[in-house]
Amino acid sequence: GLSGAAALSRRPSMTGAVLRSAVPLPPAYQVPLPVPRVLSGADRYDIVQREVTAEILPGVTTRLWTYGGSFPGPTIESRRGQPITVAHRNELPVPSVVHLHGGRTPPASDGYPTDLVVPAGWNDMGHGMHDPRAVTSTVTRTYTYPLDQRPTLLWYHDHRMDFTAPAVWRGLAGMQVVRDDAEEALGLPSGAYELPLMIADRAFAADGSLDYPSIDPTLMMQPGVKEPYIAGVLGDVVLVNGAPWPVREVDTVRYRLRILNASNARHYDLEAVLDDGRRLDLVQIGADQGLLHTPVTHRNLPIAPAERYDVILDFGRVPVGSMVRIVNRLGSGRTRDVLAFHVVRKSADPSRIPDVLSDDLPEWKRSDAVRVRDFSFRAGQMGDGHGWLIGGRPFAPDRTDVTTRLGDVEIWRLVADVHHPVHLHLAGFRILSRDGGDPLPHDAGLKDTVSLRPGESAELITRFDGYRGRYLFHCHNAEHEDMGMMANLEIT
Ligand code: C2O
Ligand code: CU
Repeated sequence: GLSGAAALSRRPSMTGAVLRSAVPLPPAYQVPLPVPRVLSGADRYDIVQREVTAEILPGVTTRLWTYGGSFPGPTIESRRGQPITVAHRNELPVPSVVHLHGGRTPPASDGYPTDLVVPAGWNDMGHGMHDPRAVTSTVTRTYTYPLDQRPTLLWYHDHRMDFTAPAVWRGLAGMQVVRDDAEEALGLPSGAYELPLMIADRAFAADGSLDYPSIDPTLMMQPGVKEPYIAGVLGDVVLVNGAPWPVREVDTVRYRLRILNASNARHYDLEAVLDDGRRLDLVQIGADQGLLHTPVTHRNLPIAPAERYDVILDFGRVPVGSMVRIVNRLGSGRTRDVLAFHVVRKSADPSRIPDVLSDDLPEWKRSDAVRVRDFSFRAGQMGDGHGWLIGGRPFAPDRTDVTTRLGDVEIWRLVADVHHPVHLHLAGFRILSRDGGDPLPHDAGLKDTVSLRPGESAELITRFDGYRGRYLFHCHNAEHEDMGMMANLEIT
């Protein structure tokens, strides 16, 4: 069969364009910020993937693909080292795959792109898979997550080969938090003063559905296919926890914001702006893979698709009645707004931000590395058309691109043509350099996704431990990923 990527016959556009919604959009900062419902306290959860209709924009009905009936799906609260299983049943019109992003997960549960959860009665022949022999299918798949890892914000999302981008766009994303006693003993803001924030842009078609250029790869060969598919799909509506430009009432205390960029392709550069134009500091306490050693203060914080930042925002000196807007410096028009906090109550602050947050960050040295590898992330020829390539090759499920040994420390040198947020499964990494110089302030800590900027190179250092087996690395611009920018990593 044809893959979505191989079917492309158009030259990749480097910038893309924003899809314009065809329904009336609400003003910013009127819809209250939803907080996804929480699953906790059990060692097994059952999630039914199903289509629902929801009112995302006031007065507009939107069909979604969901984990358990909502977008985002439920937030799973878990404890370090306490394994859970999550049984996913597929009642969607299409096959799916679940990946826990940032999880230290055995390969059988990591959501390999051809390990499908299929709807009952689905026949996977002729539906665009490269190699039917590589496909494993079940109607319900039980994923096992040992969660033997640093506490952090993870997220789960669809990962089906060639179809991740449209599936996530339609709603298949949810958050998962890992906690432990040591982190809880720090006295960071918690309870009502801790908020998960899943930021994702979307566009809405005239019938209220989420507008996406095409989910049928054969259509991609036809004239009139919308351009942004190739560079990445961008919407004109910014959703936070599934609500458009929401507002949250807050007290005059510190809040811990667990920020995730779950957008397919949109980058944000966030800042917190007061009514009078002054900015509040964003105090970063954690990265993709948990707490930093010490806090890092930012005036603005760039966040690429799939990255997470753990940030303290202090409303302690903000006058009651003020609005603090979180805006995107990279946006224009409606995509400049993200969300707002309305400071409504004076309150004593029970939290503290310790000078030292954690002492268990891996400190691999260059001399620990047993090998250095080079990877280019570039557009290129793919089949009869254009796609996105790693090391000059598009993804193939039956080819091992990298073989390493359990326990080996490696340095990876990456180079990009355009923006590529590169994600490595299983192993967290440290960023050693950018363009031969120092990493950026927000590169601190343990990461699982690095945002390569146009023309930039970066060096990562990591240690492959945990499990043997087949894993992935790929660009997390979801359209790039679907169009070839993914590779296999075998840990032996
Ligand atoms: Cu968030 Cu391989 O993905
Ligand atoms: Cu990319």
